[in-house]
This record gives sequence, structure tokens and C-alpha cells, in this order.
Amino acid sequence: MKVVVIGADGQVGQAVVKAFAERNDQVRGLTHAEIEIVSMESVKAALATLQPDVVVNTAAMHQVENCEAHPDQAYAANSLGARNLALVTRNLGARLIHISTDYVFDGIKGKPYLEEDAPFPLNVYGNTKLAGEYFVRSLNEKHFVLRTSALYGRHPCRGKGGRNFPDLMLQLARERGKVRVVDSEVVSPTSTVELACQIVTLASCDAYGLYHATGEGSCSWYDFARELFTATNTKVDLQVAGPNEFPVKVRRPNYSVLENSGLKRLGLNCFGAWQDALREYLRQSCDEAISNIPANTVQSS
Ligand SMILES: NC(=O)c1ccc[n+]([C@@H]2O[C@H](COP(=O)([O-])OP(=O)(O)OC[C@H]3O[C@@H](n4cnc5c(N)ncnc54)[C@H](OP(=O)(O)O)[C@@H]3O)[C@@H](O)[C@H]2O)c1
Repeated sequence: MKVVVIGADGQVGQAVVKAFAERNDQVRGLTHAEIEIVSMESVKAALATLQPDVVVNTAAMHQVENCEAHPDQAYAANSLGARNLALVTRNLGARLIHISTDYVFDGIKGKPYLEEDAPFPLNVYGNTKLAGEYFVRSLNEKHFVLRTSALYGRHPCRGKGGRNFPDLMLQLARERGKVRVVDSEVVSPTSTVELACQIVTLASCDAYGLYHATGEGSCSWYDFARELFTATNTKVDLQVAGPNEFPVKVRRPNYSVLENSGLKRLGLNCFGAWQDALREYLRQSCDEAISNIPANTVQSS
């Protein structure tokens, strides 16, 4: 299978390229320097020469405050970019796997969202991603739209320009010994390794459609931090932050837990409990840190 991954140096893109390469698929990653999804000409030129069977789009403008400040740019990347990819992949006869978000919901339901639930985004980011979903679903029949949430993984999220949540929490614990975290937003933490595995699994099947694709279960950011500190045996004074301590400028859903009901119905759900995925991430990070220690720094007596 010939696979093209767009956003190849991003948090999800890097995990997806690795997952396809491990399966010995012919995978080509495209960075922003190599394709501009906002431009139809750029999309046509990049994909026509590669003639892929499957295109995975991880590219987006997804920093929520930035989207709110620049709605035209957000619409161009998240909606028109998705439209361009849907049209070009359709003309090439290729499948399109497109990543969307839990922020298409308003959070009022208070119970895990199913694919059938009506979306109602609260901000520009969510609205532009929802429009992107509709373009993909209506323009290329061979599509998978995967809504995911609260991602973390080995590679930093380029759009948010920093450390992922677990790494940031561990850094704050080390530096300050005291960490305050909000408990007012409930999400399904999702490992990029599991998401990449899900994408690879779907790439060769033809059960096209819209799917929720997140770690199993849910927690507040505070619970996430508590689980992390327990798993790493980190001694830290963890406290719940007050309601106005970290004021958000843009409305977000307070509850955006997704149920992977479509994937479970197909028998193809690749996600385990979020706590297990977090422990696996920590184990791999630890192995990697050990393997990065130069051999000559360890002295035997
Ligand atoms: N991060 C989360 O917690 C989260 C949660 C739910 C859903 N999602 C969705 O998951 C997807 C992947 O997110 P991520 O965390 O992997 O993001 P990321 O690390 O910021 O990666 C996005 C990649 O897309 C590229 N890109 C951005 N705009 C582009 C454009 N117009 N044309 C071509 N390439 C472009 C970026 O390149 P440059 O950096 O060079 O511009 C980067 O390589 C997105 O669709 C996002 O909406 C993310």
C-alpha cells in the first residue's frame, strides 16, 4: 500500500509514519514545506506525483486562541484544506483518513458522546474542524473521519509549541514541588501510538465513515496529573486549581468524552484504558532516556 502522511513532522504525523513503516508499507511523509493544504495547486502537485492509495491528513491549525483571533486562516486550513484533500484524493481514487476533534461538541450532554450525537461547536476551531469533516464526508466516499481528543506522545505538538501534558506536569513537579491543575474539564486522554495503530488498522479496510477514536475512559486534567504522579512515584503537592486561576479566553466544552462506539461495533477498536496507555508511554520514555545515555558515562567499579 502506498501511503502519504500530511503533517509528517507533527505530534500525530510522526507516530503515523512510524506505524506504517513498521508494517513495511510504502510511506511518504509530507511536511508543511512540501505541501500547503490551503492551496489546491499545491495539493494536486504533491499528490499527483506520489499516486497514493491512502492519504492521512493530520495537518490543522488547532491552537484554539489563535483560531479565534484568525478565523479566516483557521477556516482556510481546517475546512478548505480538508476540502482540497477530499477532492484530490477522490480524483486519484485514494482513501482519505482525516483527523478531527472532540471540540465539535458543546459538552452539555455530560455523558460520552456517540458518533450519532449532534455536534455544536463553541469556538472557531471546533466550527472550522466540523466544516472540514462535512467536506471530507460529502466529497470523497472513501473516507475515515476520526475524532480524537487530548493527545500526548513522544513528539511535541507543533501547533501548541511546547511540551505535552505529562511532560509538562513532571517538569513542574521537579521544579516547584507543587502543582495546581483544573478539574473542570473532562476529556479522554489519547496516546498518539494508539491513534496511529488505529489509523493503520483502518487504512486497509473499507468500512468508511465517521468514528470516535480516543483512549478508553475519561478524567479531568487534575485526575490525569494525579494518575501520572502515582505511576511515576513523583512526590509532589498536587492541588485542584480554583475556577478563575487559569482563565480561558475562548469557550471550550467542559465535558468532551467520546465513546468509540463505531469502532467497537466493527470489532476494530485499538484503544485500551487511558491509564494503561499512559503507563506504556512512561515506560517507553524511560527506555528511550536510558538508551540515550552514552555508554562511556556509566563506569563499572
Ligand atoms: N493536539 C491535540 O490535543 C488534539 C486533540 C484533538 C484533535 N487534534 C487534531 O489532531 C491533528 C493532529 O494534531 P497534532 O497534535 O499532531 O498537531 P501538530 O503537532 O501541530 O502537527 C500538525 C502538522 O500539520 C502541519 N500543518 C499545519 N498547517 C498546515 C497546512 N496549512 N498545510 C500543510 N501542513 C500544515 C504542521 O506544520 P507546521 O507546524 O510547520 O505548520 C504540523 O506538521 C489535528 O487535526 C488536530 O486538529 C489534536
